[in-house]
Amino acid sequence: RSTLRVAAVSTPAKPSGGTPKQDFDWDNLGFGLVETSFMYRTECAIDGEWTKGTVVPYGNLSMHPSAAVLNYGQGIFEGMKAFRTAGSDDVVVFRPDQNAARFAEGAGRMSMPPVPADVFIDAVKKCVSANREWVPPEGKGSLYLRPLLIGSGPILGLGPAPSYTFLIYCSPVASYFKGGKMAPIDLTVEETYHRAAPGGTGSTKCIGNYSPVLKVQLAAKKAGFSDVIYLDAVENKYIEEVSSCNFFCVKGKTIATPALGGSILPGITRKSIIDIARAKGFTVEERNVSVEEVLEADECFCCGTAVVVVPVGSITVKGEKTQFQGGKTGPVAQEMYDELTGIQSGKVEGPDGWLEVV
Ligand code: COI
Repeated sequence: RSTLRVAAVSTPAKPSGGTPKQDFDWDNLGFGLVETSFMYRTECAIDGEWTKGTVVPYGNLSMHPSAAVLNYGQGIFEGMKAFRTAGSDDVVVFRPDQNAARFAEGAGRMSMPPVPADVFIDAVKKCVSANREWVPPEGKGSLYLRPLLIGSGPILGLGPAPSYTFLIYCSPVASYFKGGKMAPIDLTVEETYHRAAPGGTGSTKCIGNYSPVLKVQLAAKKAGFSDVIYLDAVENKYIEEVSSCNFFCVKGKTIATPALGGSILPGITRKSIIDIARAKGFTVEERNVSVEEVLEADECFCCGTAVVVVPVGSITVKGEKTQFQGGKTGPVAQEMYDELTGIQSGKVEGPDGWLEVV
């Protein structure tokens, strides 16, 4: 029996228009939630197989109070984006195969049946297609997709849910941080709390990784910072990541980023930036990156699906602030931003397979 109910659709949802919604203010998008027309949904029993789902009207979910996701946090999510391309009517999704792979990996870690890549890609396309009018005009933002895989079936004792729901909702978005695109952010190094520990779930995009950062993030914001940098839980010395994005630092033609060791999220933007930087002649090193090293860097930047590429204006350690590039955007952050967003909008030719046309 289905444990998660949404309004039934009596007629199949039709894809919306080919152009951006007319009566919408596309110039003032941030990262706030905008409810679109449709979402995607399918369900599967613990020992069943995923079948391709359908789009349903965007709306609330109804769930059993003992759903595993509500009681034990059995759930993962993804972040991905669809773009309108320059000079064509195409709407594209950036590297959905990568999200499909990470989603399947995460499902395994959280004891949930992995969604096969073909079901995942079909879901992404159905969701984007049905919400096509919500893809912002080229250059004004993107349609952010939020795939969720949750243990939606009821269970009282600690164990995997008897049934699972895979859904995708979406929202048009632009800049993640206040201040707008490429506005440098001020970070502080967190000394007390850690985001993840060896052997934990730091490299899984599980829902439980994100609320524990709020206490730290809110305190940092109150103190005037944009966000915090987390250090490794063993030596409290090496940079791991920022609450919602990966971290890079630049010295000359060398770019260093914390190596993936199980406690860092394997960002798809991170992976893309590494490829872009290497193609542009930089040496990219994935290794331990200490706070001391970072304070000597020419510039630093963060990246992620939501964040895109954002320069770091300053880093504060134990109350002492170090500025980079005089608090302005550094040239390498700018170069990475231009190349990544150029590829995503189809203005710059990227590696094969990075854009999936919907
Ligand atoms: C993303 O970059 O898509 C994420 O999921 C990060 C989230 C905390 C906004």
